[in-house]
Amino acid sequence: MIPETSEHLEAAFASKRVLITGGLGFIGSTLAHRLVRLGSRVLLVDSLIPEYGGNLFNVHGLEGSVQVNISDVRDEHSFRYLVQGQDYLFNLAGQTSHMDSMRDPYTDLEINCRSQLSILETCRKYNPGVRIVFASTRQIYGKPEYLPVDEKHILRPVDVNGVNKMAGEWFHVLYHNVYGISACALRLGNTYGPRMRIKDARQTFLGIWIRLLLENKPFEIWDGHQLRDFTFVDDAVEAFLLAAASRSVAGRVFNLGGDGPISLKQLGDLLVDIADGGTYIERSFPPERKRIDIGDYYANDESIREALGWKPRTGLRDGLSETMTYYRQYRQHYL
Ligand SMILES: NC(=O)c1ccc[n+]([C@@H]2O[C@H](COP(=O)([O-])OP(=O)(O)OC[C@H]3O[C@@H](n4cnc5c(N)ncnc54)[C@H](O)[C@@H]3O)[C@@H](O)[C@H]2O)c1
Repeated sequence: MIPETSEHLEAAFASKRVLITGGLGFIGSTLAHRLVRLGSRVLLVDSLIPEYGGNLFNVHGLEGSVQVNISDVRDEHSFRYLVQGQDYLFNLAGQTSHMDSMRDPYTDLEINCRSQLSILETCRKYNPGVRIVFASTRQIYGKPEYLPVDEKHILRPVDVNGVNKMAGEWFHVLYHNVYGISACALRLGNTYGPRMRIKDARQTFLGIWIRLLLENKPFEIWDGHQLRDFTFVDDAVEAFLLAAASRSVAGRVFNLGGDGPISLKQLGDLLVDIADGGTYIERSFPPERKRIDIGDYYANDESIREALGWKPRTGLRDGLSETMTYYRQYRQHYL
């Protein structure tokens, strides 16, 4: 039987020591807010590289409740000390831009692939009992051969980021299979919500859409027929917590879905409706984007529903409204 989530999660995380890599980023910081409410002792590790999604404002309100260590997961020496004594490791530090991974493949390799191996080696040597959840991505499937995509779908990434994230994910599975490290991975799709990067499209196109809408400027929709599904960040956070709290899922990988597929044009219309006005321009993908585009994607997330009782609870309209409200209030901290 799957336990009721909040009590179950309180029992798993109250007073526990939790390390979040990428903890000042969009998802990592939202996880930190939730863990503080659950009574955890939270340490956030983040490099705050300006082009990525890290932002000190993301932990606004948590001053005094979390520890923040500005360091880079490529630095094996500092990580060795940071990981010792931790009960849980939520491993979210990553380079997220697909285009940046093509322009600068070696940085993506260092962060999304090599560092993942060194993080696991460090855990194996200095904290083999830590329980790890890794933030993987649907990008590793490449262009879907069928929809919805389940975890058995072939992995054939279309860009450097996808190849490196795939390796990062598989190092986690490998370290479970060979060394018994308790690690599993969540393959996130398009995740959205308060604290996401809106400065540009490096994290998600939805970020720049929201920014332009709030600035009363038109945003661009490329190939409006394309289908996607969207996971609200609180639902993604719930999945991370449930996965970490359950030993039975170690070594496994799970897709996360959302509120069902929607075309990008429908999404644009929904946003304009929520914002009570706004315009967009429809155009085709620029050639350099088209080359690494995956086409339609939406997830089959039955595995995690069955294994952990997880399901997305936030409808797209509600999630987008909450996001718009957040940026109406705090946009200046994200530009
Ligand atoms: N947001 C999504 O839609 C989505 C989709 C699929 C996968 N993911 C994965 O989820 C994770 C979190 O993504 P996010 O959306 O919160 O992005 P984000 O950019 O907001 O968070 C990533 C964080 O990692 C930090 N970071 C990057 N390189 C680092 C390094 N070398 N050392 C220490 N910190 C470093 C960044 O500063 C940032 O704060 C990433 O691994 C990403 O690949 C996200």
